[in-house]
Amino acid sequence: MYVVAIDQGTTSTRCIVFDRRGQLVSVAQREHQQYFPRPGWVEHDAMEIWRNVERLAPRLGVQPDQVAAIGITNQRETTVLWDRRTGVPISRAVVWQDTRTDSLVQKLAATPGAERVGELSGLPFATYFSGPKLRWLLDSRPGLAERAERGEVLFGTMESWLIWNLTGGPNGGIHVTDVTNASRTMLMNLETLQWDDELLAFFGVPRAMLPEIHSSAEVYGHAVTAFPGVKIGAALGDQQAALFGQTCFHPGEAKCTYGTGSFLLLNTGTEPVRSTHGLLTTVGYKIGSDAPVYALEGSIAITGSLVQWFRDQLGLITTAPEIETLARTVDDNGGCYIVPAFSGLFAPHWRSEARGVIVGLTSYITKGHLARAVLEATGWQTREVVDAMNADSGLALKTLKVDGGMTADNLLMQFISDVLDVPVVRPMVAETVSLGAAYAAGLAVGYWPDLEGLRQNWHRAAQWLPSMDPVIRAEEYDNWQRAVERTLDWIKP
Ligand code: G3P
Repeated sequence: MYVVAIDQGTTSTRCIVFDRRGQLVSVAQREHQQYFPRPGWVEHDAMEIWRNVERLAPRLGVQPDQVAAIGITNQRETTVLWDRRTGVPISRAVVWQDTRTDSLVQKLAATPGAERVGELSGLPFATYFSGPKLRWLLDSRPGLAERAERGEVLFGTMESWLIWNLTGGPNGGIHVTDVTNASRTMLMNLETLQWDDELLAFFGVPRAMLPEIHSSAEVYGHAVTAFPGVKIGAALGDQQAALFGQTCFHPGEAKCTYGTGSFLLLNTGTEPVRSTHGLLTTVGYKIGSDAPVYALEGSIAITGSLVQWFRDQLGLITTAPEIETLARTVDDNGGCYIVPAFSGLFAPHWRSEARGVIVGLTSYITKGHLARAVLEATGWQTREVVDAMNADSGLALKTLKVDGGMTADNLLMQFISDVLDVPVVRPMVAETVSLGAAYAAGLAVGYWPDLEGLRQNWHRAAQWLPSMDPVIRAEEYDNWQRAVERTLDWIKP
């Protein structure tokens, strides 16, 4: 028997089969179209994404009766509204990176009672989260809010949308979400782990359109298509799934996943810890009826997608891994820094109006220096969130577990270890997002007995140790921070 993870990410959807040792047995993947209809807008076609899941299932080489459970993990915050009767999305999904709600968010933040939103949800006002996107969508068409009040229009993030479709869609699909995904909406109360009346009233969101909130690991229902008859045993936002897949089960353990964006999560135990340094308080996971485990999160919007931009929009490389080769053609950044505030700045700044800058250009700068500045941007942004994490927790991070596509870049991993001044370690199974969802689903159906057993599966594959001169580290960090200031101070007041 196996467990299947469906990882519905920002750029692609992957289905992965895992065995009892947590080893990858087979994988199938499909990219989906990215729509950029206006500056700052990013959209996905939710129906295309669902069809991709249906197409991937038969390519895995396992029969439904060999699958003990399915675990779902997903890009978080991306907001879909659909018609309950027909199952057709109302419009394209508004993606987490989308900044169209910028002025709405500013207006909401200035509304009386706004300070309660952070207290109840653990999140700052930002375009990133689902609540403002949902409000924007409800306002985008006459009569939509009324239909939502009547329960004719449903809201979900990607896991809700997929579970609803897997379990029958318009013919009896179940409408659920899990605590990790719900904790990114600004609508869930972090203590009760339920939709909060005060937050729903603040954002003007009708309860009738919302999914039921469940734990991250329990049997929500059975698939009727794609994997007919198989139990759906888990749902977690992808970053929380990576925390779980990295077996960061104890308070103080942290991981950072380097994908299109990068997300550093620190397990803080069974009580939510409020940040005073620009981090998010979020739910890490909740296994069935066990107490929830909370996390502090430093979210960085643009890391791998800066490499994609360098490849696709500037054309300076033809494949993403070439960035390392190009960066190695020079010894340093030549005084050049790139701050990729393409979706504003996320943690720890939370400035939606910021826009990206390249500073320090001279005729000396080559594309090699630019490549280095692209990679270093990921390192310095990690340093900013680790500083915030250390300040919030009162403890210094001792080691950082990493995963995600960018961890194949040795130059970058060494740079991260250098600028953080801590060892960076990567596990054997790099697919920690999918593995985390598989683990949670496997726990829900008794495929794996307990957390300790899962820990035994974690093995170190690579380690990078810090070797940067502390004086250079301090000087470079100062330069980076001055570059970050430029992303804000050129904007007209
Ligand atoms: O919060 C956004 C995050 O969940 C996206 O992750 O890996 O799909 O870029 P990823």
